[in-house]
Amino acid sequence: MPKKVVILASGNGTNAANICRFFHKDNKVVIISVFTNNPLARVIERVKEYGIKAEVFDKISFYKGDLLKTICSLNPDLIILAGFLLKLGPEWIRAFPDKILNIHPALLPKYGGKGMFGNYVHQAVKDNKEKETGITIHYVNEDFDKGKILFQKKVKIDLDNTIEEIASKIQRLEYVYFPKIIKKFLTNQVNEG
Ligand code: GAR
Repeated sequence: MPKKVVILASGNGTNAANICRFFHKDNKVVIISVFTNNPLARVIERVKEYGIKAEVFDKISFYKGDLLKTICSLNPDLIILAGFLLKLGPEWIRAFPDKILNIHPALLPKYGGKGMFGNYVHQAVKDNKEKETGITIHYVNEDFDKGKILFQKKVKIDLDNTIEEIASKIQRLEYVYFPKIIKKFLTNQVNEG
């Protein structure tokens, strides 16, 4: 039986689409659903290309627990947060212990927490004159960006790099490593921690 993956995404959806592309013809891993809280999110168009209809949910039903119920009924092996900006409550962690992964565009524990997403992260990295940044793939727990780290990859940056240049270096890493780590995770080739 192929492993079943659900993706949650809030916006542009390039990672979600990249993951769908990676597993499109895979017989061991299948992306069974993509959910978004934003009816205008580009992720909806992007994943169509892979025959996936993204489902839109609203915040009220999310906080009432409807989305969790729906996803429980799908019985996924893994839930992926790919640019998903709503916080999952403890009931999610209880329902899917060590089965929810997030990608963060910096080297956690630096530059994480509430409000730290997308270009805000890159701006903070630049403002602090960091010489390197990177990506972190981690388990999701009750605290924003604090779950156990599964994988990190660094990249060098220059002081005169623009935010767009930093973002593009990060995206390149995300597109290469996120699907690979998901695959390894599901086929038990990744050691925890
Ligand atoms: C990605 O860079 C992801 O790491 C980041 O949002 C971007 C989503 O891009 N996530 C966070 O900042 C989470 N705190 P995408 O919608 O094109 O995949």
